Amino acid sequence: MTSEELKQLYFDFFIGKGHTIIQGASLIPQEDSTILYTPAGMQPLVPYLLGEKHPAGRRLVDVQKCIRTGDIEEVGDSSHLTFFEMLGNWSLGDYFKRDSITWSFEFLTSGEWLGFRPEQLHVTVFAGDDVVPPDEEAASIWEEVGIPRERIYFLGRNDNWWGPTGNTGPCGPDTEIFIDTGKPSCGPGCKPGCGCGKYFEIWNDVFMEYRKTAAGRYVPLERKNVDTGMGVARTVAMMNGCETIYDIPQFRPLFGFLKKLSGLGSEPDDQALRSLRIISDHIRTATHILGDDQGIPPSNLDRGYVLRRLIRLAVRHGRKLGIDDPFTSRLAEIVIDAESPVHEELARNRKFILDELSMEESRFEKTLQSGLREFEKLLPNLMRNPARTIPGRIAFRLYDTFGFPVEFTAELASENGMTVDMEGYVKAFDKHRELSRQGGEEKFKGGLSDNSEMVTRLHTATHLLHQALKEILGDHVEQKGSNITEKRLRFDFSHSEKMTHEEIVLVENRVNEIIKADLPVICEETQLENALEMGAIGLFRNKYGDMVKVYRIGDFSLEICGGPHAGRTGELGRFRILKEMSSSSGVRRIRAVLE
Ligand code: ALA
Repeated sequence: MTSEELKQLYFDFFIGKGHTIIQGASLIPQEDSTILYTPAGMQPLVPYLLGEKHPAGRRLVDVQKCIRTGDIEEVGDSSHLTFFEMLGNWSLGDYFKRDSITWSFEFLTSGEWLGFRPEQLHVTVFAGDDVVPPDEEAASIWEEVGIPRERIYFLGRNDNWWGPTGNTGPCGPDTEIFIDTGKPSCGPGCKPGCGCGKYFEIWNDVFMEYRKTAAGRYVPLERKNVDTGMGVARTVAMMNGCETIYDIPQFRPLFGFLKKLSGLGSEPDDQALRSLRIISDHIRTATHILGDDQGIPPSNLDRGYVLRRLIRLAVRHGRKLGIDDPFTSRLAEIVIDAESPVHEELARNRKFILDELSMEESRFEKTLQSGLREFEKLLPNLMRNPARTIPGRIAFRLYDTFGFPVEFTAELASENGMTVDMEGYVKAFDKHRELSRQGGEEKFKGGLSDNSEMVTRLHTATHLLHQALKEILGDHVEQKGSNITEKRLRFDFSHSEKMTHEEIVLVENRVNEIIKADLPVICEETQLENALEMGAIGLFRNKYGDMVKVYRIGDFSLEICGGPHAGRTGELGRFRILKEMSSSSGVRRIRAVLE
């Protein structure tokens, strides 16, 4: 089955159930400036999910182009892509759980439609918490249609709740549908959501019955909606009995081209296979971003930065495969030729796509060449260092003089059995900024006097906590105060209610997840207005025109701050919240430690 065949079947099925086809939206959200790229089919429909009347009626069906880079580290596994298409059927205040579940089951299992065997289906439903009860209703409808209890799993908010995380808006419990791939289980805890690959998620039915308010409350919606998302590539993979999403027909020509170019045999090892997947995914995503009529070029800001990162990561993996000549625009040509019959914008913007890719690749090439040459010059000396560590000031000079990203220095270091002193790198960065400020320029505000190691780590942990609170409680969370000693951090923030036990656990888990991901902490210096435009948060007392330091922690956090900070989140240790209490009216206080 091809993607197009699946889409046609889906449309036919839902037209038969009274739905009207609507056009998917652009990848670049038109209204919502807080979102870089459309991450789900629901995004362009939010006003209608909140009650506005849709001109096409109350039952809609569509296919939406989506980009998610939050899972970028997972790309290359069996099921993650940064660009994907999502099919959706929508009820705007019309049908609800019963029809939604019954139709999902019918479409998936009826011989007239997809014809999966019912025994292959495993589903999850919301387990409930102290805010919203368990979704027994969804579970019993699944039972009625023929899924026995042992294949219905109750999972928590991380798995079975959908809504704009960290934002206000429509949300609710969901039920996710997985196909049992027949692979052996990973152990007694093996179940949908465990991530081992045995259960492959293809569809999510969201029952939007709440609106999350700025104060973090869940208010029942007057009109309840259904928002569903079926991954096209994932479902096609399962229909074709593929082991991974990369085995679907769409990726074949991309892999073929890359294998030929790199001289890889037909059986690449795991690492090479991962690189093939990452390159194909990232260049396909870049092609769709550049192909959007809004013409976003690579840059150092927001959307352009995401694009730049995707292209450069792909080039880097190309290098790993031994591809030394420019290749990204040639790969994009294959994507355009294959996908422009469906995505006409790719053909319309063909020249822009190819030119921008070529230019970005050659810019990156220059950066790499000069940095590499310099690194090789330095190498003999560096190898003499018995600590096998590259001093931070050298890594900084490679960055500052040659534009060589510190991640690359770290990679070259590791290829030569060394590591980079990341903390030293950040210090060198800061010192350089200090010097460059001489001559009457404004000093950074909020400079911190106590630089002991624990204090430094707690500063970084505070940024992670701040961002995690925003994600989990909502965007209304703002820093109201912060105090750090050698032993603990204290963080005050705007939020009107006592945090529930579950919220505290979610926040802790999120921070620890980011620590585990070992993201680099990078400092940039920019004018306050640029920092704000980049979406940086933080408690600052600067004026427009002031230079400020912005600390970027991977893709997770961007915050204006005087520093100092750890070099990587992996250095922090385990984060634990000791206490959550009231500080003053509308302000909560958290005390937390790193263990
Ligand atoms: N909005 C839901 C999702 O993206 C359907 O999974």
